Amino acid sequence: MASHSPVTQDAQRYRPRDTHAERLAAADKAALARWNSATNTAWYPDYHLAPFTGWMNDPNGLVCFRDRYHVFYQYHPYSSDWGPMHWGHITSEDLVHWQHQPTALAPGDACDRDGCFSGSAVTCDDKLYMFYTGHFVLDAPTPSNPDAIYEHQCLAVSSDGIHFEKLGAVVRPPPGYVHFRDPKVWFQEGRWWMVCGARDSAKDLGQLLLFTSDDLEHWDDSVWQVLAVTEDKNVFMWECPDFFTMGRREDLKILLFCPQGIRANEYDYRNRFQNGYMAGHWLPGGPWTVQREFRELDRGHDFYAAQTFMSADNQRRLILGWLDMWESPMPSKEHGWCGCLTLPRELHYSESTGLLRMLPARELVGLRAPEVTMVPGVVLDDNSDAQLLADCTAYEVDITFNTETSTAEKYGLWLGAEVELFVDTQSNRLVLNRHYPQYMLSGYRSCEMPTTVLLRLHVYVDRSSIEVFVNDGEATFSSRIFPDEGDRALRLFAINGTADVVGGNMWKLKATIEH
Ligand code: FRU
Repeated sequence: MASHSPVTQDAQRYRPRDTHAERLAAADKAALARWNSATNTAWYPDYHLAPFTGWMNDPNGLVCFRDRYHVFYQYHPYSSDWGPMHWGHITSEDLVHWQHQPTALAPGDACDRDGCFSGSAVTCDDKLYMFYTGHFVLDAPTPSNPDAIYEHQCLAVSSDGIHFEKLGAVVRPPPGYVHFRDPKVWFQEGRWWMVCGARDSAKDLGQLLLFTSDDLEHWDDSVWQVLAVTEDKNVFMWECPDFFTMGRREDLKILLFCPQGIRANEYDYRNRFQNGYMAGHWLPGGPWTVQREFRELDRGHDFYAAQTFMSADNQRRLILGWLDMWESPMPSKEHGWCGCLTLPRELHYSESTGLLRMLPARELVGLRAPEVTMVPGVVLDDNSDAQLLADCTAYEVDITFNTETSTAEKYGLWLGAEVELFVDTQSNRLVLNRHYPQYMLSGYRSCEMPTTVLLRLHVYVDRSSIEVFVNDGEATFSSRIFPDEGDRALRLFAINGTADVVGGNMWKLKATIEH
């Protein structure tokens, strides 16, 4: 395998202080000490994946290996701010109950001195192969490298899924590329393929680079191809790519990625960065041809860096995203932790509509406490509201409205005093609004109202998140919420007219993350 030193002078100057095993142990020890002193768990999720202390961003290396789901994630154990990236690790046998594992990767080796950035995992010959970006911060900017960084793709291998041996760098950046990260690896037509997010230094355009290998360990990085490039001159980087087949046709591909730099346009692209997809055709050796243009995958305030993986029986494609957004205030930092992931979701694609739908993974019925509460059919009077739950921190509500017989200007659900999910009949949009001026977190996200008569809102609420699945995944909203103590009542409401609630069900959800 090719092993490359990033920049010779930095590599020579660098002398690792400790072994990788020592750095991993130090990270876990520091995290444990900070967890013990953590006092306020008001927003710490009951059933979403979050670091038990420290900072989390992207999900990484999602894979089912020996009947266990492995979720790795960008992790900084030493504070609740982003810092030198480690890979945290959580596992599950059923996608419902999760166990924290020891930190899997710590930066500081010659191949990843300043960070183990995002990447993916595959299994081969009963081993787990993790591809990730070795990140370096260089001393001084240059005209062709104003950000003074170096990034290349590295490999780490494990036989037990818990302990990883770093095998070093396997893919260097092609000439003219500095930002070059987040490898996603897959197998197709007898070979391994890797796609990486990139930005070319000459034009500053976001794009994806493609490499191939026949044995996972040897990648001839002198042979590469630009798989796709942005047509929007404002888009300077594409991060966190995924490239996968839906259904039986090998040539029909979804390209999922995070373009940076798209300008907000009316109701679209309101978040700092986007995460979305294109549908098209690709076969090894051929070009990528776009069939459906870029579309945001989620309509909420907080959804980024999503990555897909296959279910244990290899029948369903699942997806997890980071339930946060870069540069958004994160009030839980005060409590010593920050960041969480979305629920695991199933992906469904319809070729006729070009729509990629996300639904809660079917395993999630296992989150429900035994008692179900019926929401009876009711017509809410003009300017009235009705309480569904008093003060619940973790619940699921699945409720249907008749949009044709509802006359209100605005109707839907209030979650405490600061969050509302409602139909706005004036703009004909479904809106998720949050209002936290105290945290500089206010504003709404919305989608077009579905054209169906019945509007089904399937909602998961945890201590600091809401996820809404509209009409079987026609749209989804993922957003962080930060309710005050005692401000968690769930109410139905109708303003200036009536709301026709067809009915629904509610469940309290269990706490399923083991510490
Ligand atoms: C996306 C990202 C990745 C990078 C990682 C660093 O959120 O910027 O491109 O690998 O985060 O933490």
